[in-house]
Amino acid sequence: MHAVDIIRKKRQGAELSRAEIESMVLGFTRGDVPDYQMSAWLMAIVWRGMSQQETIDLTMTMAHSGDVLDLSSISPLVADKHSTGGVGDKTTLVVAPWVASMGLPVGKMSGRGLGFSGGTLDKLESIPGFNVNLTREQFMDQLRRLDIVLAGQSADLAPADGRMYALRDVTATVESLPLIASSVMSKKIAAGANAIVLDVKTGSGAFMQTEEEAVALAETMVRIGAGVGRRMTAVISDMEQPLGQAVGNSLEVTEAIATLRGFGPPDLAEHCLVIAAEMLLLGGRCSTLEAARAALRRAMHRGKAVSKFREWVVAQGGDEEVVDRPQSMPRARLRVDLPAPCSGYIGALNAMDVGLAAVALGAGRQKKGETIDHSVGLVLKKKVGERVEASEPLLTLHANDEGRLAEAQEMLLGAYRWSDVPVIPAPLIRRVIR
Ligand code: URA
Repeated sequence: MHAVDIIRKKRQGAELSRAEIESMVLGFTRGDVPDYQMSAWLMAIVWRGMSQQETIDLTMTMAHSGDVLDLSSISPLVADKHSTGGVGDKTTLVVAPWVASMGLPVGKMSGRGLGFSGGTLDKLESIPGFNVNLTREQFMDQLRRLDIVLAGQSADLAPADGRMYALRDVTATVESLPLIASSVMSKKIAAGANAIVLDVKTGSGAFMQTEEEAVALAETMVRIGAGVGRRMTAVISDMEQPLGQAVGNSLEVTEAIATLRGFGPPDLAEHCLVIAAEMLLLGGRCSTLEAARAALRRAMHRGKAVSKFREWVVAQGGDEEVVDRPQSMPRARLRVDLPAPCSGYIGALNAMDVGLAAVALGAGRQKKGETIDHSVGLVLKKKVGERVEASEPLLTLHANDEGRLAEAQEMLLGAYRWSDVPVIPAPLIRRVIR
């Protein structure tokens, strides 16, 4: 089977067989199919799409490109959550330790930043020493001991997704329902959790910009997971504007720690509570969402969530000082406010533009394998619906390079829409698919 024939077949819009999909994906993972052929194939999928059967075959091939963990010896139910990607989305950093602190094990495989959206692995690596490269044995052992573990794709776990993800990031091949569904679900299936909450984003900073597309993606992923015996819930949530205030790796870790202590921005805190409560419900720890929310609040106020975060950081080699003094993480040299160009209400704040400005500052990658700057990004001071007077600071940029700072300032000014009348922001949670 030649890669060029399989690329041509998909380019012409025909349906691929399981054997053809395996030949491309496993050939690429072994290094037999080069980057340029995989890129061309991915672009053909972006344009032509995939049938349900092709999407399932792609997911299963990627999931089985490494080990598929069986966690049943650790606990009958292990929880996981996954976001389809957004701007300022640091939910995992809060929710994983919070849920684990309630005795429900959380075993998770995450990805790096993708295009304009941030990635949990990059955020965690802002903590000096934090190791996301775990073997199968390390993953299982830490989950057994601590009830929490998070790893990236490795030679052992979903290696195909790791390699395809890095290529998609820099070839404009992210925005595709079958590619996102197979990437997310292959990681979930390989990592072995069986109570999975998907956070499917919709809006200007999501890969699925309309609610209709987000629902279609959610339904596909729920169907794939249920088909292999996983308990699944999908929450469709807002990504019209960034979640919380911080965008950029170490800045987001700082905000996540504040949220774990009960001092997070209200939208992020509520979003984390919704996702964590769904996980407890799916994991059988509570019988109603109300009970789950009350139990989660108690755990946070007793300091259990932040202590679990500390245990997690230490177990994965991270510097514990970050938990007490987040300012010990790398900090940018320049800190500059962006003044409002006029008085009025913020009518909209385009999350994708904000994400692209963070990438321009160096918080994300523009080329495959590029090193990122963990210290840069921005912190919003005002969000959609708020009244601002001319010259009042809209946000603070954190930068290390004057040229990049100027570029990001320009991009950010274009991200705002102004209104003379009060504006109500879009609801945080659009719907839940069980
Ligand atoms: N998150 C993933 O894990 N994969 C994608 O393709 C997009 C978001």
